[in-house]
This record gives sequence, C-alpha cells and structure tokens, in this order.
Amino acid sequence: MRTKTTFTRFIIEDLRKLPEATGEFTLLLNAIVTACKEIADDVNRGQLINVLGSAKTENIQGETQKKLDVISNDVILRSLEWSGHLGGMASEEMEEAYPIPSRYPKGKYLLVFDPLDGSSNTEVNVSIGTIFSILRCPEGIEEPTEEDFLQPGSRQVCAGYVLYGPATNLVLTTGQGVNGFTLDRDIGEFILTHRKLSIPDQTSEFAINMANQRHWEPAIKRYIDEVVAGEDGPRGRNFNTRWVASMVAEVHRILMRGGIFLYPMDSRENVQEGRLRLLYEANPMGFIIEQAGGIASTGRQRLMEVKPNRLHQRVPVIIGAKEEVERVELYHSLMDQERSDSTPPHRQEAKQA
Ligand code: F6P
Ligand code: MN
Repeated sequence: MRTKTTFTRFIIEDLRKLPEATGEFTLLLNAIVTACKEIADDVNRGQLINVLGSAKTENIQGETQKKLDVISNDVILRSLEWSGHLGGMASEEMEEAYPIPSRYPKGKYLLVFDPLDGSSNTEVNVSIGTIFSILRCPEGIEEPTEEDFLQPGSRQVCAGYVLYGPATNLVLTTGQGVNGFTLDRDIGEFILTHRKLSIPDQTSEFAINMANQRHWEPAIKRYIDEVVAGEDGPRGRNFNTRWVASMVAEVHRILMRGGIFLYPMDSRENVQEGRLRLLYEANPMGFIIEQAGGIASTGRQRLMEVKPNRLHQRVPVIIGAKEEVERVELYHSLMDQERSDSTPPHRQEAKQA
C-alpha cells in the first residue's frame, strides 16, 4: 500500500537532518498549521456562518478590516500563545507586537504573520491566504520589544503560506528548498503533493496592478511598456498578464508555472516606500521565492537584506523568474545612473555629504 506523506511526518523527517533541530520547532510548526486549518474552515464556510464583510474597524495602516481579518488574527494568537514555543508575535493587523501572556511559558522563536492576505477578495470567493515567518528570539530576551523583531529576512528560520483556494495548499521553506502540501479534508491533514518546487528562469507572464501605471518610476514604466509591446517591441515575444490582488495567490501561481510579480513603489502618498509590508509579506515570500530558485528584489537591493526600521515598514517588491527580475533591476540601475548624471555637480556633493 502507498503511504501518503503527511505534513507532520515530512517535517519530522526533514528536520531530523539538521543537527541543531529540536522537537520544539516541529511542535511550533504543527501549531501554526492547526491554526491555519481552523482559518481554512472559517473561510470555506464564510457566507454560511456570517463571517464575511467589513468589521468596520481600521488597522494600523488605515485599511478597513474585514471580519475575517480580525477572526484569523485571533485564531493565530489563541492557537499559539499557550504553546511555550514563542517569545512574542507581530501581526499586520496589530499596531504593536503581542507579548506572550505571563501565565504561559515562553519560547525561543518569534512569529510574524499576515493573518489573511488579499482579504478584499473574501466576498467574491477568490483565493486568499495566511503568510507567516519564524525568527529566532534574540538570546537572553524574555520580553521581546519591537526592536527584536526588526531582523532582515535573511535571518528567517522558516517561512510559509497557506492558500485558501479551490484547494487549501501549504507551502513552506526552512532553507532547504520549498515543498507544497494539500489539505485532505477527509482526514484533516496536509499531504505532501509538491516536492522541491522550482521557478523557471524565464517567463512570459507578469503580474502588476496596471491601474497604477501613471504613478510608477521610469524603470517600471520601461519594463512594462516593453512587455506589453510583445512581439512588436524590443522583447520580440508576447507576454500575458494576471492580477488576482492576492499576493499569496500570485506567488503560488509563480511557484506552479513561473512568472514575475511586481508591486513597485510609486508616487502616491502612501505607496512611496512601496505597498507591501516588509516583515509580514515581502520577507517570507522572498525567502520562498529564493529557495525555489527565483529572485526577490526591491529593484535596487535583495529584499532579504533590507534592514527593517519599524514593524509595519513597506517595501517595493519585485519577485519571480530570475531573468525578468534581473532585467527590472538593470532598468533601475540605469535610471538611477541617469538621474545622478543629470544632477548638477553642487547637488551631487550635497547628496554625498
Ligand atoms: O495585503 C496586500 C495585498 O492585498 C496583496 O495581497 C495584493 O497583492 C495587493 O495588496 C493588492 O493590491 P491592489 O489593491 O493594488 O490590487
Ligand atoms: Mn496582506
């Protein structure tokens, strides 16, 4: 009889290969996955149990929260706070880091998460997801503060997401490649269905919100103009576009069949640093994309090397197929070069000072 590899079995066997791995990390991952199964159930039954629609509250970024944003956030806090594996948690939906209540034991990891990414899609029954990232709690810190969470993405121990779509998928990396699992609702377990995912270097599919075109920097305008020109333009071939407005779904598509996803910074007041959050979205997705052989960039720098300066920091995100992301990076460096060449010498000195 063929045995299916459950998530629990996979993670125990996978982590056994690492000499420093303790059972604690396996238990932590299992608790996160259990929380996501609960969220999957709420998302699935949304209309029937009256959890769709606006919660009529705003999060720290001034975005109106959906009822499911609040519920998912709560499910993760309640499922993890007692576990003893965490020193603290930080969520896209909470202004400050969440300390572990004093009645529970503390652990050596920090959990950072976006409880329900793409939640504008809940009413229209389009895929959404949970994104998470695990960091080490700095040595000797019992009560982590915001500063302790501000670690570059390269320090992540693990990153993953759960996609609530026609099927529920879990995709995970601990720095040894990327593996995907599918929820078998009959037995309530995630089953290994996608071993060692890898992103082709080339692609003819791109994802960007074209409605923001007039606000982009010249480097992004140039890249998109060229791909849109298709076989009549300098690229000499046709491209296709997709935009789900749900980052988890876009990244999943790239892992399944390739592509590039861009959410650049633009000139709108709240997008001048970018739109997506460094800690909750960009870093975990960056880790997954790199581990699958793709590139994760701001256009000017490797995403995972950005040193965070605050919990809710935003960042430009350009991720996916190596050749396309490299081209976007090249257009940024040409643009920046041109800008500095056209800056009068006295201003260049002022800039360097
Ligand atoms: O949380 C951010 C997010 O919902 C992403 O999931 C998605 O990629 C993006 O915002 C959608 O942005 P827009 O509203 O510009 O389409
Ligand atoms: Mn999000």
